[in-house]
Amino acid sequence: MFDAEEFIAESIESLKSQIDDIAIIACSGGVDSTVAAVIASQAVGGLLHCVYVDTGFMRKDETEQIEELLEAQGINLVTVKAADRYFEALKGVTEPEQKRKVIGELFIRIFEDEQKKCGAKYLVQGTIAPDWIESGGGVRDTIKSHHNVGGLPEDMTLTVVEPLRDLYKDEVRELARHLKINVAERQPFPGPGLAVRTLGELTPERVAVVREACAIVEEEFEAAAERGEMEIPWQYFAALLPVRSVGVHGDVRAYGETIVVRAVQSMDGMSARYSEIPHSILQKISTRITNTVKGAVNRVVYDITHKPPGTIEWE
Ligand code: XMP
Repeated sequence: MFDAEEFIAESIESLKSQIDDIAIIACSGGVDSTVAAVIASQAVGGLLHCVYVDTGFMRKDETEQIEELLEAQGINLVTVKAADRYFEALKGVTEPEQKRKVIGELFIRIFEDEQKKCGAKYLVQGTIAPDWIESGGGVRDTIKSHHNVGGLPEDMTLTVVEPLRDLYKDEVRELARHLKINVAERQPFPGPGLAVRTLGELTPERVAVVREACAIVEEEFEAAAERGEMEIPWQYFAALLPVRSVGVHGDVRAYGETIVVRAVQSMDGMSARYSEIPHSILQKISTRITNTVKGAVNRVVYDITHKPPGTIEWE
């Protein structure tokens, strides 16, 4: 039985003994990094510098919400606006593993710049067990190199500290509730953000389509759950597929891409079952997406694949 209070007390002691100089942490606003940041700041206080990198792959209004949330925790926050650097680095990159590597490396480079500015010697990360288990090593094949692990360059000069590395998602959520952080009930969001939900080339325009579609899926599912028409899934989002099909807008022929809606039930992300969603809700989502991003998308499909054999994300 996981004991949140005991875990936090032990983590604080352990972090105090590991960190004897300035530390830097990547705050993505997700449950994992926020919990890691709060525990680390409770352990080492002013030695901790929190950096939030706005990659350009965040969800709608997310940057503002994250800034508010972290500041409310008394965390000293530096926001780096890096969207232009990310899009530039990812020009022409379509292969999923390559995307993750580029994103991970740029993320670390930005951190190194911030580290030089504040003189940090340590990098605290919110890596959890599924991140490194699925990133391979030893006898396991690499399923996906997760953002927090696979992108680390070999010449990195910071010492990495990972207070949550033996935990699963449900345990981290329990810690968040215990710490009264109001991200506790938020659904998980991958480190590389909307980049892994934008299949094919990453352009600001295509990512904006995914951002809008994800917001619609979230709004409709949450409203339907509120009305008691469905259970809220463990994770739910939209991804953009580089598959174009013929459609019609008014009486004009359209040739747009495809949005896939994904919703799953899971305990910890290691395996998952696709969620059965009432057709009326899916239909509403389809209409809203095709009306909102007119021309860019003219077909919406629903993914009915469990994990395994699929993964939760499409990349
Ligand atoms: P997959 O797609 O591997 O996802 O079935 C399992 C869970 O992990 C999330 N995910 C990530 N989380 N960095 C993260 O911190 C990543 O690179 C990453 N990729 C996927 C995914 O959203 C799901 O909840």
